[in-house]
Amino acid sequence: MSDPRRSETVERLVAQMTLEEKVGQLQQLSSDSPNLDEKIRAGKVGSVLLGSSATAGNTPQKRVVAEFVNRLQRIAVEESRLGIPILSGRDVIHGHRTVFPIPIGQAATWDPASVETANEMTAREAAADGIHWTFAPMMDIGRDARWGRVAEGYGEDPFLASRMAEAAVRGYQGPDPSAPDRLAACAKHFAGYGASEGGRDYNVGEVSEYTMRNVYLPPFHAAVKAGVLTLMSAFIDLGGLPVSADPHLMTEVLKNEWGFDGFVVTDWAVVEELLEHGIAGNDAEAAELCLNAGIDMEMVSECFAASLPGLIARGAVEMSRVDDAVRRILSVKERCGLFVRPYTDETVAPFVHLRADHVAHARRVAADSLVVLKNAGRALPLTPSGRIGAFGPLADCPGSFLFGTWTLDGAAEAAQTILSALKERAGSDAKILHAALADDAVALARHCDRAILFLGESPGRSGEDRCISTLELPAGQLEFAKAVARLKVPLVAVVIGGRPLALPELCELAQAVVFGFHPGTEGARAIVDVLFGDHEPAGRLPISFPRSVGQVPIYYNSKRTGRPMDGRTRGQSRYTDDLHAPLFPFGYGLGYTSFSYSGLQIESVGENRFRAQVAVRNTGDRPGVETVQLYIRDDVARRTRPVKELRGFQKVRLEPGAEAVVAFEIGPEQLGYFGPDHTWTVEPGTFTVWIGPNSDEGLCGALEWV
Ligand code: GLC
Repeated sequence: MSDPRRSETVERLVAQMTLEEKVGQLQQLSSDSPNLDEKIRAGKVGSVLLGSSATAGNTPQKRVVAEFVNRLQRIAVEESRLGIPILSGRDVIHGHRTVFPIPIGQAATWDPASVETANEMTAREAAADGIHWTFAPMMDIGRDARWGRVAEGYGEDPFLASRMAEAAVRGYQGPDPSAPDRLAACAKHFAGYGASEGGRDYNVGEVSEYTMRNVYLPPFHAAVKAGVLTLMSAFIDLGGLPVSADPHLMTEVLKNEWGFDGFVVTDWAVVEELLEHGIAGNDAEAAELCLNAGIDMEMVSECFAASLPGLIARGAVEMSRVDDAVRRILSVKERCGLFVRPYTDETVAPFVHLRADHVAHARRVAADSLVVLKNAGRALPLTPSGRIGAFGPLADCPGSFLFGTWTLDGAAEAAQTILSALKERAGSDAKILHAALADDAVALARHCDRAILFLGESPGRSGEDRCISTLELPAGQLEFAKAVARLKVPLVAVVIGGRPLALPELCELAQAVVFGFHPGTEGARAIVDVLFGDHEPAGRLPISFPRSVGQVPIYYNSKRTGRPMDGRTRGQSRYTDDLHAPLFPFGYGLGYTSFSYSGLQIESVGENRFRAQVAVRNTGDRPGVETVQLYIRDDVARRTRPVKELRGFQKVRLEPGAEAVVAFEIGPEQLGYFGPDHTWTVEPGTFTVWIGPNSDEGLCGALEWV
């Protein structure tokens, strides 16, 4: 078992603490709990969840301010017997006052360094409000866009999600999480939450150990290796056992195998929910199952507090397990600097909230997160001339509409509407005609030289407990597009959403289509920057876009099956009534220029180490950013392997006509997988290698691992 970090402070406190005080450290209560002050004073609360609802992501929340947190902290530090500070936690998921794109949009940038900076800025703003700990990053692999929480994760691929997860952890925690402008991070939801059947939240799933190891666990392992201080256990029942009661995951893998030395908090009332699952008959049984599985802190339900003394008295729970949980929690508080600096400076917030560099970076990340899905006849970029129709329900919606789910503290007043950003950009060079309703738009369209349709999802259509049974545009929007298209005005569609949507008809109607995952505070300006070419579009899909909901679950790194889609005339794993491929594949996205790939070379550079390289040239007349992607396939292995897997990517910016050689090192880290014995294995034999612009195209070669 990995030991929590021991220190003189932690050991001194553990030696002094009564059983009740120890149990108190394992308890997290929400900030609107009754008698909270009294419970903190009595040493019965280890952490306060700053929030008041289980689905805070879509429930308006009271703003958090440092004064409020400091008041609670003074009770803990100055009025409780041992003066142990509380750890305050909040869902600071993709920004605080400055809101960045939703995490799946951040993944669409394929730029870990930029995501790290975004989360560093977020930590600075949140810490100034007295928040010590964020319940982020969420890194659940999402393969089913009906699930509202694909919005909060980093998409369908374990490699990309791992790079994003570790970047977010570094951004939130920094090199020293005790710094006053950093947060403890929380890798969630451990684990396999994205496998929820039917894309329905809180549902059950069946995931083999093999798939768990190769698909769902890698981002969490990356977060642990990046030093994440906490994890949150998921709601899900996998294979008949809710994972929060599963010692294999919570202790054997996480703490023993990976050496995780922080603590695990449950998700909202998960301990108590074991009674609903029907695997615990009462609170005591639920507490026993979770604590013995390796859970360290209970979020908002109070089964530990009610039952642990009795469980210890009758030997159902060892005192050593309680002490281990207490040490883990106190150690994280110490690493967050709470014993030396328990209070937040209440003067800082106005100087860091919406700071100019934060807002500027939010605009860059938002622009880089936008994905150009279609651009026929170079409809984009637009020139600011003539009469431009700005139509649709999102054109003049409040700017905060672009925040997306889980934005409890976003500054709505800082967000511009798309229409105002358009008018600012057009200036006197173009006339912007606006209509939110279809009939008004149709009447105006005939007077426009071109029209832009702003469509998409409300922030409340994605996030927790926001799963949908179709992937169509919201009601009426496709009809709106058809009505305007009938006027034969050149049409650009901008779609904003929290998940992939099925857009085949819209893509037929519009000359160009740009998709943005709720882009945040600077979303409006970023959309306009890309539409007019002031910012070269660079977004690439972190998740497949299906043709229809009937294709779901659909993901690029699928298995070959015994009937691969090779065009041979025999039965294959497909539908008879639709094409097999997604509408747009993982890794796909267009720029305003074009790129060529040539000269793939794969050479040995040592024993079982290779170097693969290509020449990438900007063959267009505009500068552009290309995300060069490396995929591999293990051609024969003792377990079936995906048709291909992402194993590297590099972004290159090239001026027109310029060329760059992009090289990847290939070794066991790229070629291996978690094999039959669940350890990292590289099997001898041939591997197919691709380097290209997305998961569907690229130059192909091979190498042999002897
Ligand atoms: C919710 C979510 C979790 C969140 C927690 C606290 O139910 O599942 O992601 O961090 O409760 O709000």
